[in-house]
Amino acid sequence: MKTEILRVDPAQIDPEIMEYCGKKLREGGLVCFPTETVYGLGASAFDARAVEAVYQAKRRPADNPLIVHISDESMLNWITSCSGLQRQRLQALGSAFWPGPLTIIVDRDDAIPPQVSCGLDTVGIRYPKHPVAKALIQAAGVPVAAPSANLSGRPSPTLAEHVIEDLNGRVDIILDGGPCAVGVESTVFDLVGNPPTILRPGAVTLPDLQRVIDGAAELGWKGRKTGGSLSPEDGVQEDGEEKPRSPGMKYTHYAPKARVTIYSGSPKAVATKILFEVESALAEGERPGILATTQSMLSYAVPVPVLSFGDRNNGLEQASCLYSALRQFDELGVSVVFAEAVPTVGVGNAVMNRLYRAAGGRLVEV
Ligand code: TXA
Ligand code: MG
Repeated sequence: MKTEILRVDPAQIDPEIMEYCGKKLREGGLVCFPTETVYGLGASAFDARAVEAVYQAKRRPADNPLIVHISDESMLNWITSCSGLQRQRLQALGSAFWPGPLTIIVDRDDAIPPQVSCGLDTVGIRYPKHPVAKALIQAAGVPVAAPSANLSGRPSPTLAEHVIEDLNGRVDIILDGGPCAVGVESTVFDLVGNPPTILRPGAVTLPDLQRVIDGAAELGWKGRKTGGSLSPEDGVQEDGEEKPRSPGMKYTHYAPKARVTIYSGSPKAVATKILFEVESALAEGERPGILATTQSMLSYAVPVPVLSFGDRNNGLEQASCLYSALRQFDELGVSVVFAEAVPTVGVGNAVMNRLYRAAGGRLVEV
C-alpha cells in the first residue's frame, strides 16, 4: 500500500486536505492524525471492516478495544444510549474535561459495531482538543475509532516521524501536524464499573476527576487496585486472576527494543547504583544508555548516551519527552536502559505507569 504523507499547520488548517482525509475515512480508509496526547490511527467507527483493518495495520491483539473519537458532543448519541446516573456523570465529565485528554467508558450502542470494543458491551469515547483531530472528525462526519498510531508493543508516537517509522506502507494517509503536546495517552475512566475508576492514568488526574465524580477511584500506576474506595473483590475474578478491566494494560506496552530497568530511591543513591550498573553492562559487552531527570544529568560522566526526560518534579515535562527518548535509545543502538524513577504525583503517575510497562515491571529499590 502506498501511504500519502500530508503536512498540515494546526494554526492554519487547509480545509481541502481535511475534506480529502474525511472522505477517505468515510470510504473505509485508514488515516493517522495528531491529537494533543499522541498520534492516532483512525477509521470510521461505523465501519466494521475498516476497524478490522486498524487491528491488522498495527498488528494489535484482537482483545484490546479501540477508543471512539468525536468532534462534538452531539455525536454521543450515535455511540452510547446510556441513561440515568451514567449519563449524568458522562455529561458532567464532558463539560469539565472535553475537549481534552480524557476517555470515558460507557455502555455501547448497537450503532457501533462490536469489533470496535472487541465484543465488550462498553465503549471508550474521547473528544480530543487538537485542532487537526477536531477538523478531521468534523470533515469525516462520522465518529473515528483510533488506537495510538504505533505498531503494537512500540512506544506511542508523539511525532509524525514516529508514525512513519512504524506504519509507512500500512495505512492510506499520515497527517503530519507536528509534535503532540501532552505526550502520553489519555486518562481512561470507567463509568460502567462501581465505583467509577481510572483504568489508565493520564494528564487528567484522580484529584481532577474527584472534583466532578464523588468516590472516583484508580487502579494505580502499576495497573493494580490501590485500596482507596475499591472493594476487595473489585478487579479480581473468582479464580483469583486479575480481571482485565482495561484489556490494553495487560500487555507489555510502550516498550523500546532495549531492556529497561527502573531505579527508585534517593537521587544520590540511584545515580551511584546506575553508574555501577553501567560499568558492569559495559564489561559484559552491552550498549547501555541512561534515562535521567535534568537534575541528575551531570552525575553521569560516562561515555554512554544519557537522555533527559525533564525536570524531576514536572510530570508534564516528563510526559512530553518520555516516548521520544525511548525511541531515541533504539536509534542509538542501546541494548540496556537504566532509568530513574520519578515521583508518582500529578501527571508523574502516568509517566511511571508507562515507564513501568516499558520496563516490563523491572523496578529496583535502592
Ligand atoms: O490518548 C489516547 O487515548 C490515544 C489517542 C489516539 O486518542 N489513543 C490510545 O488508544 O491511546 P489505544 O488504543 O492505544 O489505547 C486505548 C486504551 C487501551 O488500554 C484499551 O484497553 C482501553 O483504552 N479501552 C478502550 N476501550 C475500552 C473499553 N470499552 N473498556 C475498557 N478499556 C477500554
Ligand atoms: Mg496504544
